[in-house]
Amino acid sequence: MKDDKISEVIRVGKAQVLVYELRVEAAMSTNVCSVSPDDTMEDVRKILKEHAISGLPVVAGDELKGIVSIEDLIESILEGKTADRVSQRMTREPVTICSDDLLVRAINDFGRYRYGRFPVINRQTKKLVGIITKGDIIRCLFKRLESNHYEDELRRYRAGHLFEDIRSDHSSLVLKYNLEGASFEKAGEGSSQLKKNLLRLGIHPDVARRITIASYEAEMNMVIFCKGGTLIATIEPRCVTVNAVDQGPGIPDIARAMEPGYSTAPDWVRELGFGAGMGLPNIKNCSDEMHLDSTVGKGTNLQFKVYTKK
Ligand SMILES: Nc1ncnc2c1ncn2[C@@H]1O[C@H](COP(=O)(O)OP(=O)(O)OP(=O)(O)O)[C@@H](O)[C@H]1O
Ligand SMILES: [Mg+2]
Repeated sequence: MKDDKISEVIRVGKAQVLVYELRVEAAMSTNVCSVSPDDTMEDVRKILKEHAISGLPVVAGDELKGIVSIEDLIESILEGKTADRVSQRMTREPVTICSDDLLVRAINDFGRYRYGRFPVINRQTKKLVGIITKGDIIRCLFKRLESNHYEDELRRYRAGHLFEDIRSDHSSLVLKYNLEGASFEKAGEGSSQLKKNLLRLGIHPDVARRITIASYEAEMNMVIFCKGGTLIATIEPRCVTVNAVDQGPGIPDIARAMEPGYSTAPDWVRELGFGAGMGLPNIKNCSDEMHLDSTVGKGTNLQFKVYTKK
């Protein structure tokens, strides 16, 4: 990957943190127009026109059967076959997203596929619960950024006062998150809780943001490559140190693992939108210091530090 591309990927912004925190259900539209497999393409034309949209999920009962788009409609018009049933023209087994997926997953999928919308299903019941477009994501982010802006102002007032009245030779506060056996669905919860607590403690939002992104990447690595691990954040008057400790398989070649784009992620992980080999470079970029120790067969200790005061 070229250098300018890398810095684009790892640039740390407020919107970037939000997409690692918010779930698809926060952005999706629940008011879904749909058609049945037995409707005709002429019915599709009317609905698309009436609602000024460019695609529709095809649903029988609550079950998602496919998706029909404006391209399918145009094709049927050109062939003079608008009386065709939707079931003859739709895309079967469309790419779907689960309502509890992180928004970053949806954004990755919009990058990977050229679809304009994804049906959103409930992970357990597999039933259609919404639909998501890039526009939904942008609207949701704008709304959150606006309300976060005012909260940030309030927090800044308290920032840096955490240790001010405490007299000791050494003060520190340790927050520990046990991610042992963490599942993919729950991945990201440790770093999300850590972020909330850092903000509550008055850590500057920009600093909290960098710590959260680095912690999220470390957490994902522990979930993907190990059977979980532990995230330990030590807050001191001048810095926050995070240790991500696991008893996983270890990393045979640390220099190689640190290279942007290097990944041993299996196919099923890549299919979920991970495995770009950007996690460790991202952690390095977000932190002021980073140390990676690993012993094959024993485990890995990743430590990073972010200074809260100059
Ligand atoms: N805790 C860990 N235990 C074992 N191996 C790890 C661990 N963390 C990283 N690795 C190894 O280092 C490689 C690079 O990690 P990195 O986080 O940069 O990329 P990735 O996880 O493969 O992809 P991405 O983070 O972009 O989704 C991984 O593919 C894996 O081989
Ligand atoms: Mg990773």
